Amino acid sequence: MHYVAIVGSNSKTSLNRRLAAAIAKRYGTDDVTIDVLTLNDLPMYNVDDELTPAQVVIDFKQAVKAADGVIWVTPEYNHSIPGVLKNAIDWLSRVDKVMIGKPSMIMGTTPGFLGTIHAQLHLRDILFAMQSPVLMGNDVMVGGGHAKLDADNNITDAGTNDWLDTVMPNFKAFVAAHQ
Ligand code: FNR
Repeated sequence: MHYVAIVGSNSKTSLNRRLAAAIAKRYGTDDVTIDVLTLNDLPMYNVDDELTPAQVVIDFKQAVKAADGVIWVTPEYNHSIPGVLKNAIDWLSRVDKVMIGKPSMIMGTTPGFLGTIHAQLHLRDILFAMQSPVLMGNDVMVGGGHAKLDADNNITDAGTNDWLDTVMPNFKAFVAAHQ
């Protein structure tokens, strides 16, 4: 089984990228591989270009298409998802609609304690529009994330690890059920 983790941040020091790296480190196995994708080089979506997109768009869509499941790891900007993530989603939603039927789960982290709850609700709605089945009841909202990740991409908070140890097998079963 293969997942991609799509990080909705273009910051070099992204907390969410560190969370995605920690997930890949803790849950990547011979049976389940997890690639963390970057959105930094994607051009701004433009309908004029969608039939002849840049190679970076083709490669990004191919990577998502090849995955059995997508883990969205998003920051919250102004109570929604960052524009860089919406832009990536808009590319994914057109021409070769690679998210149709592809299982998703959502997670995110903030320095504040709400842990991206508003952004996740918006992303869930967007994924409905994309016809991507979203794992329900397994929300991963890591508030205070700056204090729960170390420099070696480990999650240092026992409660967060316990919860992830529950939801990651649930996601695996969810993905398997959609294959
Ligand atoms: C934020 N941040 C933020 N946090 C939050 O909990 N709710 C919010 O609505 C916002 N809004 C917001 C807007 C903008 C433009 C910025 C730059 C930041 C803080 C945000 O959670 C914090 O910067 C995270 O570290 C961003 O995630 P990455 O890029 O570190 O992964």
